[in-house]
Amino acid sequence: MAILLPGGAGYIGSHTAIELLKKGYEIVIIDNFSNSNPKVLDAIKKITEKDFKFYEMDYMDKEKLEKVFEENKIDAVINFAGYKAVGESVQKPIEYYTNNISGALVLLDTMRKYGCKKFIFSSSATVYGEPEKIPLTEDCKTGGTTNPYGTTKLFIEQILKDIYKSDNTWDICILRYFNPVGAHESGLIGEEPQGIPNNLMPYVVRVASGELKELSVFGNDYDTPDGTGVRDYIHVVDLAKGHIKALEKIDKEEKGLYIYNLGTGTGYSVLDMVKAFEQATGKEVPYKIAPRRPGDIATCYADPKKAREELGWVAEKNLEDMCKDSWNYIMNRSK
Ligand code: UFG
Repeated sequence: MAILLPGGAGYIGSHTAIELLKKGYEIVIIDNFSNSNPKVLDAIKKITEKDFKFYEMDYMDKEKLEKVFEENKIDAVINFAGYKAVGESVQKPIEYYTNNISGALVLLDTMRKYGCKKFIFSSSATVYGEPEKIPLTEDCKTGGTTNPYGTTKLFIEQILKDIYKSDNTWDICILRYFNPVGAHESGLIGEEPQGIPNNLMPYVVRVASGELKELSVFGNDYDTPDGTGVRDYIHVVDLAKGHIKALEKIDKEEKGLYIYNLGTGTGYSVLDMVKAFEQATGKEVPYKIAPRRPGDIATCYADPKKAREELGWVAEKNLEDMCKDSWNYIMNRSK
């Protein structure tokens, strides 16, 4: 019995692959390397000292996907094959809707054909749109996404709810990630955005390394303690462990559709992050205040109580770990 990871060579997929292998699960990775590097596969093997099957392919290629299901006994699927860049999704809505939504449909249809009905979906706090309240609980209203990326997450959640309604022999777990940062402590895998990073932590790291000149802090006039945007940053290894807990849950519980926030429950501002990074690494992060970034909200953090009570999952790593591990990865990469 194996767990299939489409997009398993990517940032969150690769960290989850490690945690699964460490727990003794058999895994099969498929990836087309559209936003990842083949070297990651060797790093996963090196870290875990375990082997796994890999197929280089697009997860939307139904014929090839069926072959994967024919050749392996797939018990559950954790889908990491979505495109994830907010800004790019505004420029390329057709690509985003096709890859994320059509891809998910091809995957779900193939799973059904082979009688595999356990699915874990990487959703995002972005589905809450403008937060109804803070901290966000899973029953807060969703909708009002401001970009195609976010809308794909919202639509796929709806598709999964409809699938479960039509056939309650599915076991579905929707995980709403907050802001994943950090890297594996080995420094062998981490976040590798293509081009100039859009997200805060990869940008900060590249300013500290001298690759980029200075950070633009997008707005200091929000209604937050220091005026800069507040988010719930979560270490990617904690996030990866959340998937194991979700898998254990759908393995042992009644069939169902479950939704969990994966966040720490603590919000940090952009300037908190800059300060924490400087303290953790001893590197300076020059910054300037710039206009607000369109589509950004002031504050977004999770109430992680449901995941704690029902999955037995809590984020264990702190801000210092997040900063140190992000930095360690970049230093290691440039060696
Ligand atoms: N920020 C800056 N300067 C930068 C980059 C970001 O000031 O160069 C600020 C943003 O304005 C925001 C905070 O840092 O206040 C975090 O921004 P990120 O781009 O790192 O993350 P977002 O919260 O905008 O988006 C992330 C993920 C999305 C996901 C969303 C869910 O990138 O995939 O969280 O809330 F949908």
